Formats: sequence, C-alpha cells, structure tokens
Amino acid sequence: MIITSCGNSEKIAKNLAKKLKTKYSPLTIGAFPDGEIYLRFNTPLKGQKVVLVQSFQPHPDMSLFDVVFAADTAKDLGAKKVILVAPYLGYMRQDKRFNPGEAISSRIMAKLLNKSIDKLITIDPHIHRYKSLKDIFTMPTVMLTANSVIADYIKKKVKNTVIIGPDWESYQWAETIAKDIKVPVTVLRKTRFSSRHVEEKMINEVSVRGKNVVIVDDIISTGKTMIAASKMAKERGAKSVIAIGVHGLLVEDAVNKMKKWGVDKIVTTDCIEHPTNKIDVSPLLINALRKE
Ligand code: R5P
Repeated sequence: MIITSCGNSEKIAKNLAKKLKTKYSPLTIGAFPDGEIYLRFNTPLKGQKVVLVQSFQPHPDMSLFDVVFAADTAKDLGAKKVILVAPYLGYMRQDKRFNPGEAISSRIMAKLLNKSIDKLITIDPHIHRYKSLKDIFTMPTVMLTANSVIADYIKKKVKNTVIIGPDWESYQWAETIAKDIKVPVTVLRKTRFSSRHVEEKMINEVSVRGKNVVIVDDIISTGKTMIAASKMAKERGAKSVIAIGVHGLLVEDAVNKMKKWGVDKIVTTDCIEHPTNKIDVSPLLINALRKE
C-alpha cells in the first residue's frame, strides 16, 4: 500500500503512513505557466493499492480536480486499487435544486469520482436529503463518524455541560455524544435566510443556566450557525460556550467573528488542518485502512 496526499491533507496522510507502517510518497502537484494542472507520482504504482488522502478544503474546486487527476493517473500507471480517504468530503450540502436552474453539485462531484476511485472512506459527510452515500456513489463507501473521539474530548475537558445541536441535522452528533457522556441535550430549530444569515429557536427547553454549553455540528463554515446558537445560550445564562465542529472550514474570518459574538472556545477535529484542531481522527481512519 502506498499513501499519498493531494495537497490539503499532508499531515494526516503522513501520520496514517507512519502508524500503518506503510510507504508515504508525496505527489508533485503544480501548475504550468498558463495555470493548467501538472501532476506527477514519484514512485512506481504498478500492482499497488494507492491511498489518496485529500480533504476538500481549502480550494474545494481544485481539491476535487487534483483527486480526479491523481486517481486517473494512478490507474493509468497500473495501480491495482485507488482508495480515496477524504476526511472532509466537500460539495455535499448542495443535495437538491433549491432554486430553478441550479447545479446539484453533490451529484456532479460523485459522478467525477465514480469514474476513477475504487473506494471512498470519509468522516461525517453531510448526509441530509440522501439516505446514504449509495444514493450518489457507485463504488463501495465507508462512512465513519467522529462522535466517539468528540465524546472523549468533552469527557476529558468539559465539566457541568449541556450539549446543543444547532439544527435538526445535527441531532446525529449532538444526541449520540450526549448519550455517550450522559449529559442533557437539545436540538435547536434553525431558519436559514441566506448562506450568511441564520436564526435559532429552542423547541425542547433544557436549562443551560450556569452550564458549560457545548454546541456540536458537522461543519463550521462562516460560523453564523454557531454564533446564533451561542447567543441564545448566553442569553439564557450559560457560563461558557464551546463550539465543536467535525469539519472546521472557518471561512470569512469565522474564528474572530465567533469569539466576538460570545463563543469562548472553538474546537475542531483534524479532518481539515487548522489551528483550532484539538481532536485527532487518525484512529478512525487507521481502523478502516487496516481492513484494506
Ligand atoms: C448545515 O446544514 C451544516 O450542518 C452547518 O450547520 C452549516 O454548514 C454551518 O454553516 P455556517 O457556519 O456558515 O453557519
């Protein structure tokens, strides 16, 4: 087995290779003077299982394009199997045509990957309107969840806590984690007016007064969801608010905005490399890759 990264996930790829005692071979990815992609494998691939590690952030378009080029090239060079480990799989949120004429990006992304990838391993993909990854991928897929490593983090680091899921979709993280660590939980009702304007309502009342509130979501992008949930918790007397995201996209100065609006601490897993990474997902990926 040969492990490589496509640019975004070098740290995690090297870590996986080290722990699995397998070869890490960096890809050369650059650009021709006109901007076209240049990509080169630096080790023979004939008969090998090739693991491409790539989270789709930053630069989701380029990240996807790099994977398509790398996977196709690996096959062309004789790789026996190409496995994509995408700790963060992008493009999953546009899972329907919300307005006439829109691209259903998740389907297009999957179509591109279906052609050259033999297996996909990912962590907490944004499954909302799809029932499973099978709805869009034709290759075998493994969908891991960071719930156990997030629960371990909260157990070790936060006392006297209440878990909040900021929207209906987040129940799958918030409720499972709360059950694991045996603390109260509530899931809010989110209304999204635009990609940068959200409002939250607490439907099932849970007291947060004097508590260290942990808000758990799969993605923190602009931070607006976390800010709205955090404001509500603080207004109801929460002692502190910790925002935990599986995938910290943290775009548009999200970290500073969240801090400004009352989020005391931001914690993410290392699915996407970021200074807020405090939770290591490599044990989950190692288990999955050991089965290969
Ligand atoms: C959406 O359904 C996701 O689960 C997240 O709640 C969302 O992507 C967060 O976005 P933002 O940080 O921009 O509010």
